Amino acid sequence: MASVGRLSGKVALITGASSGLSGSLMGFGGAAARLFADEGCSVVLTDIKDEDGINTAKQIRDLGGTATYHHLDVTKEEDWITILRETVDSYNKIDILVNNAGSSARYTIEETTSETWQAQMDIHGKGVFLGTKHVIPYLRQNGGGSIINISSIYGMIGSPSSTAYHIAKGASRLFTKSAAIQYASENIRVNSIHPGFAFTPLTEVNYSKPDLQEWVLDRIPLGRMGEAMEIAYGILYLASDEASFVTGSELVIDGGTTAQ
Ligand SMILES: NC(=O)c1ccc[n+]([C@@H]2O[C@H](COP(=O)([O-])OP(=O)(O)OC[C@H]3O[C@@H](n4cnc5c(N)ncnc54)[C@H](O)[C@@H]3O)[C@@H](O)[C@H]2O)c1
Repeated sequence: MASVGRLSGKVALITGASSGLSGSLMGFGGAAARLFADEGCSVVLTDIKDEDGINTAKQIRDLGGTATYHHLDVTKEEDWITILRETVDSYNKIDILVNNAGSSARYTIEETTSETWQAQMDIHGKGVFLGTKHVIPYLRQNGGGSIINISSIYGMIGSPSSTAYHIAKGASRLFTKSAAIQYASENIRVNSIHPGFAFTPLTEVNYSKPDLQEWVLDRIPLGRMGEAMEIAYGILYLASDEASFVTGSELVIDGGTTAQ
């Protein structure tokens, strides 16, 4: 791990970051945690999958990086208050928040229950709101910072199912712009990333089904699904000072899917 890098001296908290073990299928948050540590950042990995998170953080430390794991359910306000206070107690500051945690719900409008609707809004909408609300005072103390919200191309376009997911990812997309405008004068940048179809622990079960895999591949001009690291490099860019003039923007990483 590099002691000097693109995020040298910075402190980041990433949600939904448990799946980052080398040799295993990685998620975007886990891949970003590894990349951030490689670039000299102290990383606080959070998730509700505690065992995987503990192991991923340990592996990063074994490679010379600085990383800890903490349980954080993004829908619980008290979890956010505690973990952000502990992060700043440990590292004296926080520079970067990556709102990445997510879950899927592949249902049509008529199949979607009120409970599914609420759960999707809670994780992708309320979770992003709570994290942003409670990190802002610490970023302000620090003279600025970067918040990156992992939305989706499904926050921009429709599909035959995933009703509540589309709405919730659309909420995260517009929340990003609202936050960017509210806090730009305090040097707090807020951007969204819109990944296309990628093979991760979240999508593995569905995208392993031949009919769905064929449907997905038909929609990707580059002819293959994305990998977690390809999204993580976008997160790294927006987190770093290289993106110092970028706020309220949406970075699409989708192999060309939404260009059609
Ligand atoms: N994989 C794709 O094709 C794709 C495409 C577009 C957007 N996304 C989004 O990217 C993000 C990362 O997904 P991924 O595909 O890398 O899969 P992943 O399995 O790594 O990520 C999801 C993580 O979020 C965690 N999580 C779920 N509910 C949580 C909660 N309430 N609190 C805290 N953590 C919680 C899960 O435990 C899991 O570790 C998600 O927001 C997802 O919606 C994924």
